[in-house]
Amino acid sequence: MDYANVRSLEEAARAVLDPVHYDYFAGGAQDEITVAANEAAFARIGLVPRILRGAARPRLGTTVLGAEMSMPVMLSPTAFHKLAHPEAERATARAAAAAGVTMISAMLSTVAIEDIAAEARKAAPGGAEPSLWFQLYVQPDLGFTEAIVRRAEAAGCRALVVTVDSPALGRHERNDRNDFHDLPPGMRCENLRELPGEGLRDLGGRDSGHVRQVVLSPEISWDHIAWLRQISDLPIVLKGVLHPRDARLAVENGVDALLVSNHGGRQLDTTPATIDRLPIIAEAVQGQVPLLLDGGVRRGTDVIKALALGATATAIGRPAVWGLAAAGEAGVARVLDLLRNELDNALTLCGCASPQDVTAELLTTMEGPHQ
Ligand code: FNR
Repeated sequence: MDYANVRSLEEAARAVLDPVHYDYFAGGAQDEITVAANEAAFARIGLVPRILRGAARPRLGTTVLGAEMSMPVMLSPTAFHKLAHPEAERATARAAAAAGVTMISAMLSTVAIEDIAAEARKAAPGGAEPSLWFQLYVQPDLGFTEAIVRRAEAAGCRALVVTVDSPALGRHERNDRNDFHDLPPGMRCENLRELPGEGLRDLGGRDSGHVRQVVLSPEISWDHIAWLRQISDLPIVLKGVLHPRDARLAVENGVDALLVSNHGGRQLDTTPATIDRLPIIAEAVQGQVPLLLDGGVRRGTDVIKALALGATATAIGRPAVWGLAAAGEAGVARVLDLLRNELDNALTLCGCASPQDVTAELLTTMEGPHQ
């Protein structure tokens, strides 16, 4: 498999995907200004290497919320993997677990969380416990929400990643043009179907598993985060924090980590690039909780820039989908391999021995003059 970089996997994915499904994966809200901004902002940041540091080959591993990661790159949650490949989230989970990469499994997955966890366990090297987190859209129906949380806990998920940038669905004009609004026949959101086990709630009966069952509600508030804290001992990560006041509120409300994200430009268009928001969020939280970042991460150098600006780790959304569509499990594995090799190379070239060694002294802007 000769893919030189993530971009070439996107091209391969585009060649095999139904154009309607390619648009669903690639697209964003309205004019897609934020989609473009996420990648463009990384390109505007320059790296200035340090020399002669005798750093030796870098170690890439890191730990976030107790989860050991083989590198500071995670899989952000993306819905509907079956649109990309018949093996769907099963393949993604195996590739992530085999690579020692944390997968944040989407609530709207097309494979049930129990099956995703089972695949991850099979693939984790040496029988190690794979690192699987669960992404949640809190539903106004708390019974429904609690049933899904219990299911994620029972499956072995180690953190709840609560998506908070979605009080409504962003306006995806590509999907409107393509009249793409629900999964094709034969595909379901398996986590929304009847729950196994005694005493758990039936989430909707025989005809369940439809995307339209999910409510993206503007009624969700900090009270729901407090409620979640009460019902579950899992660490809570808020996904979609962009405002420093919200970052402070999150810390005050006992949230365990923040994922700085604009949903890959799929929610509010014209939100700035996440990498441009990271410094102000880091300033607001003062190291009290770990910061994660997604949006436009395509290269090892992007990872270094995020680390230098205060992230403990980064996450990728679309690149994993491109790998999955292009070549199933092997394609996702290739994406992770590429990012690992690029990160190793870039750390070495910067004179850094580890991700923890990366500081803001490496950064400048691409446009001169420099100080
Ligand atoms: C997403 N994302 C997302 N986020 C979430 O919290 N729940 C979800 O169900 C989904 N679904 C989803 C589907 C697709 C096709 C994409 C591309 C994205 C957002 C995702 O977690 C992440 O924030 C972005 O994808 C990160 O940006 P990049 O890496 O795609 O640029």
